[in-house]
Amino acid sequence: MTQEEKFKLLSEKIQEAALGGGVKRIQSQHSKGKLTARERIELLLDKGSFEETGMFVTHRSSDFGLENEKYLGDGVVTGFGTIHGRHVYVFSQDFTVFGGSLSETHAEKICKIMDMAMKTGSPVIGLNDSGGARIQEGVVSLGGYADIFYRNVQSSGVIPQISAIMGPCAGGAVYSPAMTDFTFMVEHTSYMFVTGPNVVKTVTHEEVTAEELGGAHTHASKSGVTHFTARNELECIEMVKQLLSYIPQNCEEQAPVYPYKSEDTELRPALNTLLPTNPNQPYDMRDVIGHIVDKETFFEVHKEYAENIVVGFALLGGRSIGIVANQPAFLAGVLDINSSVKAARFTRFCDAFNVPLLVLVDVPGFLPGTDQEWNGIIRHGSKLLYALSEATVPKVTVITRKAYGGAYDVMNSKHIGADMNFAWPSAEIAVMGPKGAAEIIFKEEIKNAENPEEKLQEKVDDYTQTFANPYRAAARGFIDEVIIPEQTRIKLLKSFKMLENKVVKLPKKKHGNIPL
Ligand code: HXC
Repeated sequence: MTQEEKFKLLSEKIQEAALGGGVKRIQSQHSKGKLTARERIELLLDKGSFEETGMFVTHRSSDFGLENEKYLGDGVVTGFGTIHGRHVYVFSQDFTVFGGSLSETHAEKICKIMDMAMKTGSPVIGLNDSGGARIQEGVVSLGGYADIFYRNVQSSGVIPQISAIMGPCAGGAVYSPAMTDFTFMVEHTSYMFVTGPNVVKTVTHEEVTAEELGGAHTHASKSGVTHFTARNELECIEMVKQLLSYIPQNCEEQAPVYPYKSEDTELRPALNTLLPTNPNQPYDMRDVIGHIVDKETFFEVHKEYAENIVVGFALLGGRSIGIVANQPAFLAGVLDINSSVKAARFTRFCDAFNVPLLVLVDVPGFLPGTDQEWNGIIRHGSKLLYALSEATVPKVTVITRKAYGGAYDVMNSKHIGADMNFAWPSAEIAVMGPKGAAEIIFKEEIKNAENPEEKLQEKVDDYTQTFANPYRAAARGFIDEVIIPEQTRIKLLKSFKMLENKVVKLPKKKHGNIPL
């Protein structure tokens, strides 16, 4: 073979690999409104930055006629490149090859880039579009999944791992995305479930569509399995890039810092009038966030799930922060099982990856009821308490209104390690709301009064005056400063700047035992 012929052979092989399962299957993929594995990578990475690994890998199986059906790459495109100039590793499953199903060699390709990502300290992004385990391969495929799962766990907290679900993701395959830090789903073309609608029908006799059982909307609002949903693949890929812009490359680094020019005034007078006069009326905590952070930088995580708590990333003076905030506009901002778990998971991500935490508090307490108690609000609520207590990143709290009972302690109180605690003058920091408190401690007096209603009101006013304010807590030093709301941004800019070099050493241990 001449040199020229050798080059030609290589070029033919590259062309063959680029076609995956062939033109017909690519057309079928497009007809479903889906992009191919390579098209997705093109959109995700900086132009021309992608370097592919394992393009010519083929499976080793010879059962069920597979020896005669081989495709270069074996159903997954792997490699590395950059996003906004920062290194990332990518795998993108190719549905046109055996439905993107995972073979032994397909898994090896993914493991190879996961190992490289760990060695070099860069994020891994998985674009999932797969019929699950390669059925013809049996247990070696299951072994391949487990090899990935194991690496997901080893990488957890070391490098960010991101999963975008862009097609089916079924069976045990769902557990890899579940163990990554963030999951994205595309509406109407992606679904995730452990067992599909047919099995569900056989076992439980429930009739449910794939979309209802495990579509993007279901997992965004009901299960919380996905953190983000996108209307289409393009939007999904843009969202992945946006998320990356707030987080560091690995646990040893800081998130990128963006140029920020201080404005003429950092006062935000709109915050002074944002709270309703009646403390029992709701307001949208997102409005508070909007006035505190750099303009339009709030990137909400888990937006449709457990809406009584809001979590997400934002920039403050050009630096990334994570925000955990009670949401009075939904269930009065009460803490329940789902909101505790949602906030705990987000807190742990921020702590693992050096993103400082801002906690905004307006919480009437924990949600009462048999549903909550029987489903373990004690166990789940303690996850948030644990996560915030354990976090060593800079932690700053602002109490805007209510901070009652155990929820006061949980929501990044001074006692569990918050560095700076601010309160607005409207803050009410007490064991419980004035009415509930008065009814309990003055029960007899109210019952025996000539006019019980009047007596109750008198006691409520008394309790409000004594406890429903920030000054008792400030007198103890539990609150560092009571501030006019318009000063909040300035105080936070200064606090996070002051805390930039914070170092905390945890007691030596293998790992803690968070109440799972
Ligand atoms: C091998 C597979 C495959 C699989 C699909 N294909 N899934 N090949 N192993 N798991 C092939 C099909 O034979 C077909 O090949 C091509 O991919 C496209 O599949 P279609 O069925 O034509 O596509 P569509 O109608 O879009 O349906 C997609 C699908 C369906 C919903 C994913 O294919 C399906 O239900 N597949 C089986 C899913 C499954 O049960 N997987 C195992 C789950 S258990 P041709 O040649 O026609 O293009 C599991 C365990 C993991 O994954 C455990 C980890 C611990």
